[in-house]
Amino acid sequence: MTYWIDTHSHFADEAFQDDFLSYIHRCEEANVGRVLVMCMNRTEWETMIGWKKEYDWLDLACGYHPEDLQKLTEEDWKWLEEVVSDPRCVAIGEIGLDYHWDTSYNDLQKACFIKQLQLADTVNKPVLIHARDAMQDTYDILKAQNVKKGGIMHCYGGSAEMAREFVKIGYHLAFGGPLTFKNSVKPKETVADTAMENLFIETDCPYMAPVPMRGKQNESSYVHYVGEFMAQMKNVDEETLQKIQMEQYELLFGVKL
Ligand code: NI
Repeated sequence: MTYWIDTHSHFADEAFQDDFLSYIHRCEEANVGRVLVMCMNRTEWETMIGWKKEYDWLDLACGYHPEDLQKLTEEDWKWLEEVVSDPRCVAIGEIGLDYHWDTSYNDLQKACFIKQLQLADTVNKPVLIHARDAMQDTYDILKAQNVKKGGIMHCYGGSAEMAREFVKIGYHLAFGGPLTFKNSVKPKETVADTAMENLFIETDCPYMAPVPMRGKQNESSYVHYVGEFMAQMKNVDEETLQKIQMEQYELLFGVKL
């Protein structure tokens, strides 16, 4: 049996905790059989470890988001170094560069990005990359660091040309709500230009809900809208796209689906 995978969810977010089971059930109803959850701090990790005991199809990743770096303590870093060795942590993320709101600590961002890429390489796990208004720096650092397992460019918003370069150095490209927006151009060009083996779908929930839920609070079950949209674009049936993404997911994260 094939199903959809949400490769980037913030299910650990407070927005989901009060009514968590209903979000889980809606995933089951929408044939979303696997969700990769970003844990951005210790609290989120512990919350998700609790849910994973009951719902083993939740996969967990751990890493420090570029917007959170300035408040981190030495202890936070020590904790991350330990938790990435935990077999329940399948990837390091989300990590990366974000120059959109604040460029006053770009050097710190780069240093923390490199540090977390090296950590991923040490434990031989893939990385989940956030890049906003920082595509060239992100590419240069990824190329130089050469993480063996590669990873995913989450919510990819660069050009189709640049996408080819990311694929060449071992990265998949993931698309969420913006792919389905009427006015989006670059994501559609990139999906059209990229082999299905290099594409994933995601929600980035609770933000950026896809059409027809645009404007509402996003949730992982909505990833099926992105998958249906992508299957139509690639002119394949949904099962074919699901199967390819499941195979790629197994290879990348070393999990058995
Ligand atoms: Ni995210």
